[in-house]
Amino acid sequence: MFLLNLSKSNIDLSCAEVQAFTKKESVLLDDLLLIEDQLDWKRFAYTKDVLRIIEQTTEEELESALNNIEWNNYYGKSYCVSKLGKLSIGVDKAGSIIWNRLDNPTVDLENPDMEVVLVKKGNIVFITIEEHENKESYENRRQHLRDEAYPISLHPRLARAMVNICGDVNEVMDPFCGTGGILIEAGLIGLSVKGCDINEKMVETTRRTMKKYGIAGNVEVENALKVEHKSAAVATDLPYGKNSPVKDIEKLYSDFFGHAKSLTDRIVVGTPKSIDCKKMLVENGWKVTGEFEVYIHKSMSKKIYAARLDS
Ligand SMILES: C[S@@+](CC[C@H](N)C(=O)[O-])C[C@H]1O[C@@H](n2cnc3c(N)ncnc32)[C@H](O)[C@@H]1O
Repeated sequence: MFLLNLSKSNIDLSCAEVQAFTKKESVLLDDLLLIEDQLDWKRFAYTKDVLRIIEQTTEEELESALNNIEWNNYYGKSYCVSKLGKLSIGVDKAGSIIWNRLDNPTVDLENPDMEVVLVKKGNIVFITIEEHENKESYENRRQHLRDEAYPISLHPRLARAMVNICGDVNEVMDPFCGTGGILIEAGLIGLSVKGCDINEKMVETTRRTMKKYGIAGNVEVENALKVEHKSAAVATDLPYGKNSPVKDIEKLYSDFFGHAKSLTDRIVVGTPKSIDCKKMLVENGWKVTGEFEVYIHKSMSKKIYAARLDS
């Protein structure tokens, strides 16, 4: 069993990108997601760290539980102890219990092989060991796109979550690819990617960025309403404001949702909150399976929808 420590910035989205892969039931405890499945942790954008549960106890029983664990089975060269939530036992006390149970104990607060994390949730204390820490450099990729001065770019963390919400697919297409934020995130986790944009400059930027990250894939100058490549999933961020050459943006969206049925049977789409795209998706035969609101900046919030075609 694992406890995923989710980013508080958007719990719904944080959960959804993981639950798109879980086969067994998961339980949300505030900002912690309790799951049974062992997943490819590296791919998740909004999971801060993953803790493997060694034992579940109460605060009263914690010292004896720590004493009864065969810590040598988990230990490498060094360890440290930290805690999440209000626990009366100090990390020093917990650390010294573990010290006494280890054959060759060494404490390393900076880079331990075994980080024991004591997590208090309600009346339960989970004794866990950190299995994965999210060190992905989303901010650096954002900086790179900023250098290109395209303010429409999705934050790479959000782009990654949208790709994940597509679920267990081996390819993703973005027909409004812009600077390629979604394709880059999909490519970096090993998916095949293809995309198009009506604007040649955007296509050039995407190709250049994909090359920089060593991502192969087909990106062409094409109209998303006419493109014909089929794909296991479409993940895309619809044009809005100045980056749409058409006046009737709602018609563009509706036409796209109609056309997208010939491209794929699962779609994850970013839309401006101000337009009711859920209705349009439903009217075009899509079944909406997820709906998330994302704050972008003070005058802009997005809605992300996940939708499928009923077979
Ligand atoms: C919101 S941006 C996509 C941003 C992208 N996700 C990123 O991270 O850079 C929408 C893009 O749709 C493109 N676009 C607008 N109308 C289009 C159409 N009919 N077919 C293809 N692309 C179109 C615009 O040129 C713009 O680059």
